[in-house]
Amino acid sequence: MHFAVLTLFPEMFAALRVGGILGRCIERKQVSVVTIDPRAFATDRHRTVDDRPYGGGCGMVMKPEPLVAAIRHTKQRHPENRIVLLTPQGRLLNQGVVRDLVKYEGLTLVCGRYEGIDDRVRQRWVDEEVSIGDYVLTGGELPAMVVIDAVARMIPGALGNAGSAEDESFTTGLLEYPHYTRPRSFEGTEVPEVLLSGDHGRIEQWRRRASLIKTLVKRPDLLRATPLSVEDTTFLEGLYQDLEMILSKGPKSS
Ligand code: 6GU
Repeated sequence: MHFAVLTLFPEMFAALRVGGILGRCIERKQVSVVTIDPRAFATDRHRTVDDRPYGGGCGMVMKPEPLVAAIRHTKQRHPENRIVLLTPQGRLLNQGVVRDLVKYEGLTLVCGRYEGIDDRVRQRWVDEEVSIGDYVLTGGELPAMVVIDAVARMIPGALGNAGSAEDESFTTGLLEYPHYTRPRSFEGTEVPEVLLSGDHGRIEQWRRRASLIKTLVKRPDLLRATPLSVEDTTFLEGLYQDLEMILSKGPKSS
């Protein structure tokens, strides 16, 4: 997959190449990340990329000409790329959005700085707007890196273990079960016995139930939005009955 990033701060994207799964994907050329600096397309002596907002107000706005020249340049090289603007006004990123984005041959990620970009660029050139959460950052660079990381790891064959993207949180719609590795006993706490049993049926059931409990406690909103099997529902109803029993007895009297 090909990522083209339009940014006034291309150096920030060096971070993506440092170690880990993504770094390896880039090394193996399963993923390419190129940066295009709109400043290179500015035509005046000072290479101006921003200007004061019409109507007044504080802050600066990214000028349309250098940005559009950079987009045109990128479109020539990667005509198939989906053009994505990173903005707090965009569609909230979640695993569903990531799954949509990974279907494209490539993404052109447009990073705004200052107060944002001239809206005519958005209207005329942008296919889609994405936000990474309801808070304000100083620019679209960190969000673009978040998108690259999340999308790249969904490329078939990009993960070391192809199964691990299937089981995990937000793919099953549930939070992930807890993980353990050696040693069996650590600071007085044992690994759950079932995980040592070698009984894959019991292990799978334990993991599913651990996911259900964790999601119920931490993210009930996810549980409500996720299809559950009859076995899941039976388990949750059992939990509910156990809780009712405990609560109906009230606190122990002394
Ligand atoms: Cl995509 N950009 C900026 N500037 N702030 C954000 C964001 C994007 N997503 C959340 N906050």
